[in-house]
Amino acid sequence: MSGNTKATLLTEGKKLRLPNHVAIIVDGNGRWAERHGLPRFEGHLAGLKSVRSTIRCLNQYPIKYVTLYGFSTENWNRPQDEVAGLLRLLEEAVDKEAQELHKQGVKIRHLGRLEGLPQGLEQAINRAIELTKNNTGMTLSLAINYGGRTEILDAVRSIIAECVPPQSIDEKLFNNYLYTAGLPDVDLIIRTGGELRISNFLIWQATYSEYYFTDVLWPDFDEKEIKKALLSYSQRQRRFGGV
Ligand code: IPE
Ligand code: IPE
Ligand code: MG
Repeated sequence: MSGNTKATLLTEGKKLRLPNHVAIIVDGNGRWAERHGLPRFEGHLAGLKSVRSTIRCLNQYPIKYVTLYGFSTENWNRPQDEVAGLLRLLEEAVDKEAQELHKQGVKIRHLGRLEGLPQGLEQAINRAIELTKNNTGMTLSLAINYGGRTEILDAVRSIIAECVPPQSIDEKLFNNYLYTAGLPDVDLIIRTGGELRISNFLIWQATYSEYYFTDVLWPDFDEKEIKKALLSYSQRQRRFGGV
């Protein structure tokens, strides 16, 4: 969809300010499954449908950057079979969805450590990045095996390994060593599932983000909920320390 045909969020005929970069902490798959008397894996399957519909919906707006938190460095602490199931699902999804996203002009990026992931998932991510690298539409960043603290440590390691002179280290330079190099700061962070925490997500980049927390479980997150989040964002006054 081209920029000028993209939907704008309207209320009482007024055009609203939209975020340039939206990041989502997708949470509540397990509890959704529990409520439906299903195994947790079914919750992750249902969550995948929400991922698909959310990307499609956000892509209808002139929102340039979308980032999804799919697997944290702490998620390795889950039972082995859940971790294996989740990573397998991510591999299948990345492979399958990449084709469709490519058609929509979406550019795919990965945030996190590729080392440590199953080889198949690592390859699927690399294939998706390669396939979509020249696309100029929305940039979709997938945070998989992502941790905010690990990201900062990895940046520090690279800076030291490259013998960067200490006096040249400023925020701009540091940004370029993060997984998110080249991405703008996050304007809006949405977290579903009712928890009021950030769970090691984009801790450097979220310094001045707006937050939107909802009790809605991720598999139930739909277009109506997205609109609520965007509307809430559009009504915030961002001061960045000014007046
Ligand atoms: C989010 O749902 C999916 C991931 C963290 C990968 P959860 O699996 O955390 O669901 P709850 O929080 O247990 O309900
Ligand atoms: C955050 O969800 C991580 C992802 C969405 C990938 P969790 O369910 O792992 O978060 P905590 O453990 O409740 O903080
Ligand atoms: Mg959770």
